[in-house]
Order: sequence, then structure tokens, then C-alpha cells
Amino acid sequence: MNATLSQLAYLLAAVCFIVALKGLSQPATARRGNLIGAAGAVIACVTVLLTPGLNHRGPILIAIAVGLLVGVLGAYRVQMTQMPQMVALFNGVGGGAAAIVALIELRSITTAGGASTIHLVATAFTILVGAVSLAGSLVTFLKLQELMTTRPVVFPGYPVAYAGVMVVAVVVAVIVVVTPSLALGALLAVLGLALGVLLVLPVGGADVPIVISLLNAFTGLTVAAGGYVLGNTLLLVAGTLVGAAGTLLTKLMAAAMGRSLVSTLFGALRGGSTQGTTAISNRPVKSASPEDIAILLGYADRVVIVPGYGLAVAQAQHTLRQLVDVLQERGTTVDYAIHPVAGRMPGHMNVLLAEAQVPYGQLKEMAEIDPEFKQTDVVLVVGANDVVNPAAETDSSAPIFGMPILHASQARQVVFMKRSMRPGFAGIENQLLYEPGTTLLFGDAKDTLSKLLAAVRAL
Ligand code: TAP
Repeated sequence: MNATLSQLAYLLAAVCFIVALKGLSQPATARRGNLIGAAGAVIACVTVLLTPGLNHRGPILIAIAVGLLVGVLGAYRVQMTQMPQMVALFNGVGGGAAAIVALIELRSITTAGGASTIHLVATAFTILVGAVSLAGSLVTFLKLQELMTTRPVVFPGYPVAYAGVMVVAVVVAVIVVVTPSLALGALLAVLGLALGVLLVLPVGGADVPIVISLLNAFTGLTVAAGGYVLGNTLLLVAGTLVGAAGTLLTKLMAAAMGRSLVSTLFGALRGGSTQGTTAISNRPVKSASPEDIAILLGYADRVVIVPGYGLAVAQAQHTLRQLVDVLQERGTTVDYAIHPVAGRMPGHMNVLLAEAQVPYGQLKEMAEIDPEFKQTDVVLVVGANDVVNPAAETDSSAPIFGMPILHASQARQVVFMKRSMRPGFAGIENQLLYEPGTTLLFGDAKDTLSKLLAAVRAL
């Protein structure tokens, strides 16, 4: 393939990535967007393989085959609730790959006798930030997979260690630019790995996904700088897109949790992490049978469903949709209230309910549905807890204080479906469970929803 054709192919791939991002911004077009993005990646890889004079085609093809196998197996076997750690792993591998490419480029620079300063700056940046992204992503993976503590890890002298490694890394990066050497490049990579570990250790609990998104932005910037180093426009465009998307997602997630990026990263140093306790309360609550709740639902005009992490755990989304269908056939108006951080990853509830073919129009974002709770007869909270916990507004010591919540408490009746009195992810008690207008329907969501469905059908 000649140079003009390959530039055109790269342009086409870049357009695919941009169209893919646009598609991914709406549930209705997300699947198509994903496929378009994948097509762009295939075009990019094939273009590289058709480059005249490309060395090591055999090993490259073997590496692609191994990567494909791992990716396909991973995609089929990983549970949806484990998706954040899978994203962390993939993201880290991307940053690490960019750092290795930059190290190889540095070796060529030292043997070929120099490069421009800007080229060397981009190379040093790619090595350092790529290594940060690799190590940081691996630690977030270990945290989310619970292979290490999910709590923030801080130790005496942490700020000094962090600042010390940061300063040494910047100094070594400057020396790499002034007097390029592979040994110094390798040292820079090691310092980057240490920085990545130190960056993520103090982050705990619900803040971990925000950091994954931040590291994703880092990987994007690294890939963009790598594109500059290699003179590859497509890498430059793709890296910039990932960097920008990651930065925006980080900002949106932090806002959805009511936290600043600084308190997300370093809150633990001030004792402000988002991981609470897991104490189980034994205060009395009002509970009822599925038949009682069926009567409540069956004669309500307006019902709002608040889905949460427990719905995903129970895999009860299909039964829930059937229940909503039956209620709608009876003339009840039903919507789903989607909190931006319900579940364990961005868009978790949208993906879960889309899997059950819930029409997108029934999924209402927080700003749209929140004012409607006052006119709602019954709010059915299915496996959610923190996202309706008033402590986010009333208790300044609560780890979720400042997080915008769904005001389910304003409805006439609130029904919580959960298995026990255990708290949600933040590990704090939910006062709403004890309010006079609240009833608990205990049990696994799939089981209780099936009973509820049968009871509503029998009305
Ligand atoms: P949570 O507050 O974690 O509450 C989940 C509820 O589901 C719990 O009350 C649990 O009670 C119940 N549950 C678990 N398994 C169940 C099952 N099989 N059947 C019925 N109920 C079940 O969930 P949420 O309201 O969705 O809030 C999400 C939390 O995760 C927030 O604190 C958020 O900050 C955090 N977080 C979000 C993200 C993103 S980006 N979405 C990422 C990481 C963390 P029982 O154990 O008693 O059943």
C-alpha cells in the first residue's frame, strides 16, 4: 500500500472513531457506534500490516492472534459487574504498550544520533505517563477484583514519598531530553511505575472508577504523544479522542458523586475517603409480603422504579421489565429513575435494562425524574441503596455527603427490595429504610420480583 493510500485509510479509521464516539453517547445508537469503532481499529491494523518494508510481520500476527484470543475470552467470560476492572486492565496495557514503543524509539534515537527537542520531550512524556497509567491501572484492577484491600492505603510520609518520586521523575525526564540514553529512559519508566502505584494507593471505595477514567485519559495522552513520536497521524487522533473522552468522563463522574478530583485522589490523606463501615443495623423496620406490595403497585397511578447494583447482582432485569409491562397494561404510568452512579460503572443501569429490551424512553435521567417523585404513588427501589440515601444531604460526616441523590422519600410510598439490612456500597445506614412511608420486601430481587409479578397478574 503506498503512502497516500495508507494516509487515506488512516483518515477513514479516524472518522470511524469519531462517529463511534458520537454513537456511544446515546443508548439507542451505542451498539452501532461500538461496531463502527471496531471497524476503524480493523482498518488501522490492516493498513499497518500492508505498509511496505514492515519488519517482523510473523511475530506481529502472532501477537494479534494472542490479543484477540484473550480479548474475546475476556469479553465472553467477564460478568457485567466486573467490567470496570476489565476496562482498567485493558487501559493499563495500552499505556504500557505506548511506553515500550517510546523506549524502543529512544533506543533508535541514541543509536541514530539524535532528534529534535520536541521529539525527545514527547518520547520522555510517553515513557513516564505510559508507565504511570500501566502501574496505576494494575493497582485499580487489584482493588476492584478484591485481590487487595479496596480501602485507601496511606502510610506515614506518603506525601513526602509522592512528591519526592514526582520531582525525581521530572528531573530524570529533563535529563533524558538533554542527554538521551536508554538506561535513563528505563529509569524514567521505573519511576513512572512507582508514581502510578502511589497515585492510586490512597484512592478507595467508590472513587476507584473515577481514577480508572483518569488513567484512561492519561493513556489517551500517552498514545497521542506516541503518535507524534512515530509520526503516525492516526495514533495522534485516536489518542487525543481517548484523552478528551477520559477527561470529560472523569469530570462528569466526579460531579455525579459530588466530589472534586483532588478529594477523589487525595481525600484519604484528610480522612475523607468514600469507604464507610459495613455494620448491620437491627433497628425495627416495616416489612411486607409480595402479595401486599402487589396490591400497592396494582392500584397505583404512578410508579417509579429505582434500579441499583442489587438488580445487576440478582440478574432480575428481565423479570422487572415483565412486571413493568403488566403494570402498564393495567394503566399505571411507570418510569425508571436512572442515577448516574447507580451500580458499579458508568451507564451500568442503562446497559442492564437495555439487555432486557426496556424502551429507552422509559429510562429517565436524574434531573428529569427527580421533580416527579412528589406526584408518585409508589417508588420501587430494586437493589439500590446509596443513590436514595438522604444522608448525602443531611450528614456531613457521611462518605457520600455531597452526592446528588434521587429524592424517593418524597413519594407517597417507598418499597425497598433487598435481602437484608446490610448497607450499600458506601457502608452507611439509610434512614429512609426506617421512615413510616417505607416498606421492605426482603429477598433476592429475582425471586421476589417473580413472586410480585405472579401476585400482580393474579389481581
Ligand atoms: P448500593 O448502594 O451498593 O446498594 C445495593 C443494594 O442492593 C444493597 O442495599 C444490597 O442490599 C442490595 N442487593 C445486593 N444484592 C441483591 C440481590 N441479589 N437482591 C436484592 N438486593 C440486593 O447500590 P446503588 O444504590 O446502585 O449505589 C451505587 C453505589 O456504588 C454508590 O455508592 C456509588 O457511588 C458506588 N459506585 C458507583 C460506581 C458507578 S460509576 N456506577 C462505581 C463504583 C461505585 P442487601 O445486601 O441487603 O441485599
